[in-house]
Amino acid sequence: MNISIIGTGYVGLVTGACLAELGNTVTCTDNNHEKISELKRCVIPIYEPGLEELVKINVKKKRLFFTTSVKEAVNNSEVIFIAVGTPSLDNGEADLTGVENVARNIALNLTGYRLIVEKSTVPVETGKWVKHTISTYIKHNIKFDIASNPEFLREGQAINDFMHPDRIVIGVESKRARDILASLYKPLNAPLVITDIKSAELIKHASNSYLATKISFINAISQICEKVGADVVEVAKGMGLDKRIGSSFLNTGIGYGGSCFPKDVDAFINIAEKLGCNFDLLKAVKEINQQQKIFFLNKIKGLLWIIKDKAIGILGLSFKPNTDDIRNAPSIDIIRALQSEGAKIKIYDPCAMEKAKELLNRVRFCKDPYEVCRGSDCLLIITEWDEFKELDFFKIKKLLKRPFIIDGRNIYDPERMRKLGFTYAGIGRGGVLKR
Ligand code: UDX
Repeated sequence: MNISIIGTGYVGLVTGACLAELGNTVTCTDNNHEKISELKRCVIPIYEPGLEELVKINVKKKRLFFTTSVKEAVNNSEVIFIAVGTPSLDNGEADLTGVENVARNIALNLTGYRLIVEKSTVPVETGKWVKHTISTYIKHNIKFDIASNPEFLREGQAINDFMHPDRIVIGVESKRARDILASLYKPLNAPLVITDIKSAELIKHASNSYLATKISFINAISQICEKVGADVVEVAKGMGLDKRIGSSFLNTGIGYGGSCFPKDVDAFINIAEKLGCNFDLLKAVKEINQQQKIFFLNKIKGLLWIIKDKAIGILGLSFKPNTDDIRNAPSIDIIRALQSEGAKIKIYDPCAMEKAKELLNRVRFCKDPYEVCRGSDCLLIITEWDEFKELDFFKIKKLLKRPFIIDGRNIYDPERMRKLGFTYAGIGRGGVLKR
């Protein structure tokens, strides 16, 4: 099929490259001219494993094209995906100006039947407004359909998630729209959930909010474990073996971040309130997530007492491993809180330092974990990159002023660290500092 994707961010670019890989002809468009000119040269502005390769292959096979013209994209395709950003406004509401803008732009350029698909994460009933906007600006009585097809891509494994989805959600209101999307996704052989547009929009927000709820739940349990000296990793293991609970997303840490969970939880709380439903559960999920960072900061103070003028080594900046994304990363809040108390910060992250340089100042960016440890009063693990899991701890012990490690992602075994002579604190790992 001839497809166009409007918006070439994490979601739009992965969706475009993967649909091209499935054999479709895809035109990706964005109003950021610099980004489009980079993409035309196969320069990918984001770190996503495998994406650069996929773009190069499909550009070479003339299945993937980039343009800044919505008109060109709309005229060349029968299916148009709206994949522009829906960031949070100050009140938590999703900012839909990009979506409205694109809907209007599509309408002004329609010359024949098109299926317009919401790929961006949008509040329920956005489809109704997209349809209203297109109907308002469309010329003559050109036919079109709207659909909702939310994505469930995780950064760092987005291509895998696209090609091997647990399910594909399709919200439609016509047989024609259903048939088009069912045949587009046929090569993936994945379970199809074909429903109405509002239900499809809600599946996305409800899924992300539930995943965030699972994380906040185990983070709340970690606080109880700290108090009684139980081990949250064991508790999560015991819970997760129950098939009704499942073990994924039960890893305690310093809270969730990224471009989705914080935004989607805020948006869902906002939608519920607008509908007259009080989503206290989600408000608690958000509060626990915030508390988990304060809990981690108190652990540092419990070890160092006075933070002022202390050298603190930090491993990890990205909101999770295998991405360079630092949007809503817990690292940023933690670093700023430590700096406000006068700490001197040294950092290493395999991928995210370039992006962090735009956000952080008065931080020493180091070339490797050992430089971070040299002369530091303690070492904090903030992101669970694989390369932090097997470090030379003898070397680290010599480099640190004091053998203090606070592990915000429980990547080390407390017994092993104790035996190596570290004063080690994990999250919910039995509470007392293990000597
Ligand atoms: C998420 C959803 O998983 C994905 O379906 C949706 O399309 C986009 O948002 P992403 O934000 O890329 O994907 O990352 P994810 O792997 O879900 O992790 C989100 C956050 O939760 C990260 O900050 C991660 O550190 C945290 N997390 C995840 C935990 O703290 N504990 C866990 O057990 C799992």
